[in-house]
Amino acid sequence: MTRSFLRDDDLTAAEQAEVLALAAKLKAEPYDHRPLAGPRTVAMVFDKPTLRTQASFAAGIAELGGHPMLVDGQLAGIGKRESVADVARVLGRQASQVVWRTFAQADLDEMAAFSGVPVINALTDDFHPCQLLADLLTVQEHKGSLAGLTVVFLGDAACNMGNSWALAGSLAGMHVRFGCPEGYAPAASVLESAAALGGSVTVSSDPVEATTGADVVVTDTWVSMGKEDEAAARRAIFGPYAVTPELVSHAADDAIVLHCLPAYRGSEIAAEVIDGPRSVVWDEAENRRHAQKAIMTWLQDR
Ligand code: NVA
Repeated sequence: MTRSFLRDDDLTAAEQAEVLALAAKLKAEPYDHRPLAGPRTVAMVFDKPTLRTQASFAAGIAELGGHPMLVDGQLAGIGKRESVADVARVLGRQASQVVWRTFAQADLDEMAAFSGVPVINALTDDFHPCQLLADLLTVQEHKGSLAGLTVVFLGDAACNMGNSWALAGSLAGMHVRFGCPEGYAPAASVLESAAALGGSVTVSSDPVEATTGADVVVTDTWVSMGKEDEAAARRAIFGPYAVTPELVSHAADDAIVLHCLPAYRGSEIAAEVIDGPRSVVWDEAENRRHAQKAIMTWLQDR
């Protein structure tokens, strides 16, 4: 059966470790592995804004010897002009893999069911698993290993990044804490899935309690794509969870800070933190390419 990467727990813990090890190898030898030579085409479809994802997939596909085919989601009108299933059947006849950023996870599932080729989640409303591979690679580089580390995710945990940290962090054997207002924890079904994976997941509405002693501090925008209408209300709700120098002072002395970007300095993260010595966000952004090369290579080999 064709494997896809639609959510973080589509990989087992052992497979996640294998993909991360492959990412490190591809980072060390960026031009030596060409599983997409031909060139094979990978379709990249975007229904939401993108910078890092488009750039890192396009560069990564090229480095693997393949050809990145950009499909404009607006022009294609997926699910409007024609059904997801029909688009999937067509793209599967042109491309070796399909990378899709869209809204509904159910649409991504349908793409995978009908395309006949590996489908990779490049962000949905529910999950952002490629970002998590990059994040874990970054933590592994800076901390040496993942299992047993404590990570705190602060702010809006009821979004794709919160859900993905719950799953991917647990798979890696990390202790994942969420510091978020009531009603903004990851989805209950996701927390239930995470509980069976390893590590641990806890939720606290007290940002200091959640952050105390953490090895890794993570945040994300308070206004995810598609939630722009709620921006003003969200700024008020999440204020106490802003990653400020004061809040970070409660983390471990050698804690690192991650942000998937785009970042809003003065909202979810202070400029002194994201531009300060604990920040590893530029490594994290670069690692999108290496991590995504690894998952594409891994899927191509199935
Ligand atoms: N939660 C954010 C992630 C951006 C990469 C969003 O969905 O907009």
